Amino acid sequence: MKAAVLHEAGGIPRYEDFPDPVAGDGEVIIDVKAVAVENVDRAIAAGTHYASEKYTGRFPAIPAFDGIGALPDGTLVGFGNIRLPYGALAEKTVVPQGSYMPIPDGIDPAVVSVMASAVTAMSMKTAAGFVPGETVLVQGATGVAGRLAVKVARLLGAGRIVATGRDDDQLREVQAIGADTVINTAVSDEALAQAYLDAKGDGYDVVVDYLWGRPSEILLRALVPRSFAFGKPTRVVQIGESADTEIALAGSSLRTSGVEIYGAAKGLDPQTMDEAYQQIVTWKRSGELTFDVEKVPLSDIETAWQRTDLKGRRLVVMP
Ligand SMILES: NC(=O)c1ccc[n+]([C@@H]2O[C@H](COP(=O)([O-])OP(=O)(O)OC[C@H]3O[C@@H](n4cnc5c(N)ncnc54)[C@H](OP(=O)(O)O)[C@@H]3O)[C@@H](O)[C@H]2O)c1
Repeated sequence: MKAAVLHEAGGIPRYEDFPDPVAGDGEVIIDVKAVAVENVDRAIAAGTHYASEKYTGRFPAIPAFDGIGALPDGTLVGFGNIRLPYGALAEKTVVPQGSYMPIPDGIDPAVVSVMASAVTAMSMKTAAGFVPGETVLVQGATGVAGRLAVKVARLLGAGRIVATGRDDDQLREVQAIGADTVINTAVSDEALAQAYLDAKGDGYDVVVDYLWGRPSEILLRALVPRSFAFGKPTRVVQIGESADTEIALAGSSLRTSGVEIYGAAKGLDPQTMDEAYQQIVTWKRSGELTFDVEKVPLSDIETAWQRTDLKGRRLVVMP
């Protein structure tokens, strides 16, 4: 079969022949239909992710750990838990029986492959307990996940949405999809801190953070009150780290600001996860939530992997 084959950590996957997977006891072969390529896949392949060792510890390997495909009887499923060195970026892959779920009827598999990013945005509710009318700040709103978070915040009934990015053209697009106020983070530290304060109105109730690093560090410092007043509670959900993996956090940022910081997985269990997923499916079916995908054939993986022009569109490989 053809596959995207990675020969070393940090390399570029190449479109090559690879032995077909053979199902062992309790395994099933998946005919792969759509694979969303996300930053996490690139980080794992680069050897810089904490899961790199598990997924690409030996080479040659096939990147990407989940996708959408067909079971031998033709049922379309979302699959994961692939047996290494197989990955999702191939014509076929192999998973244990049961490591898949049927996908919703009538939705393009390429779109289904991107829906997990929208489910993550639901963490403003599942992790931070968002209620309609609240003010939401989306950090990193020009990326795929951030744009979906702006749309999800609007659909959940946010009172006001503030969105950050570092490119004015893309920030205009983010306004067009629902942000009330945008902030360009590509300014001096002082100017950025002031922009966060100018845009906060009565205060940020929920921050969904896809950036971490410098912008979040400046935000958390800016939220410290300048007097002994009580800070307004702000619930920060940590989801991504496009800007950096670390921040320096002053004790005062937690002590006085009223800030609470959660991981996106807080509050997730099979029921809340399913409810969040079903909500995304409902919005997709009604046309209220749209997904911007850039479909490419597997044979284009080498150039597709290196693309930097996607600007809020998710790369989806269609083997
Ligand atoms: N936990 C989860 O389930 C989950 C799900 C989805 C995403 N994520 C994470 O969320 C993050 C965003 O994912 P994505 O899919 O939206 O990525 P993406 O489409 O590649 O977008 C990344 C965004 O971050 C911006 N950015 C990059 N470096 C920056 C910096 N130094 N300062 C300010 N902005 C910067 C980019 O701006 P430019 O366009 O100007 O370059 C872009 O808008 C990633 O860390 C990803 O792993 C997590």
